[in-house]
Amino acid sequence: MSVPSEKIIVALDISDKSQALRFLDQLSAYKIWIKVGMEAFYSWGPEIVYEGKKRGFKIFLDLKLHDIPNTVEKSIKTLIKLPIDMINIHAAGGSEMMKRAHESLMSSQTPPLLIAVTQLTSTTTEQMNKEQGISGSLLENVLLYAKLSKESGCNGVVCSPHEVKTLKNAFGDQFITVTPGIRPFIHHSHDQKRVMTPLEAHLCGTDYMVIGRPITEASDPQEALETILNGAL
Ligand code: C5P
Repeated sequence: MSVPSEKIIVALDISDKSQALRFLDQLSAYKIWIKVGMEAFYSWGPEIVYEGKKRGFKIFLDLKLHDIPNTVEKSIKTLIKLPIDMINIHAAGGSEMMKRAHESLMSSQTPPLLIAVTQLTSTTTEQMNKEQGISGSLLENVLLYAKLSKESGCNGVVCSPHEVKTLKNAFGDQFITVTPGIRPFIHHSHDQKRVMTPLEAHLCGTDYMVIGRPITEASDPQEALETILNGAL
């Protein structure tokens, strides 16, 4: 079984400009998304969004906004002037922050999808309990954050692929799941803790899977992407 390219969001976590542009050129034949995260956006700002768009990619601007409601609302108002298709905020910022983000987005004629980060895929239950002071399981917390996100107008959440089925059962198929923590080879998970292979994630029903280092650090990124699309991993 193959993995649809429209589901793949490649994380452009490359700070060297010429290397990043070369990388975009190498993948421009594919109907995939590009995720512009903090590393790329803080390095060159909006320019990288336009470079991605110029090559025909859909753009996910992954800045994980988390601040007081007013600041997030105003930031979104500025960011939606860019040609982006998805933007995200932290659910931990609370319902009011998420609602204001949603309202701000609605001022655009073509609003990007608004996605809330639940718990990062590098977070473990132990870390959440001890360091964030949140009791219970990760899944319980992800479900609570997803519920608040949906009620606040978000289109979906960033979560672990392991949580997709539960979230779809709880909030319906239309509620979008964006899943990082994708590893073609489970034994090389880097700092990600709750991982799954691309094919497994596809079979679990994830809407979009975010893949970074398995493609950006591959000696041949195009070959790495092809292997993933072919469902070989
Ligand atoms: O290299 P890797 O595949 O781990 O990259 C995952 C990307 O997804 C990174 O850019 C990271 O910032 C992002 N991300 C994540 N976990 C989240 C949200 C975003 O790993 N919960």
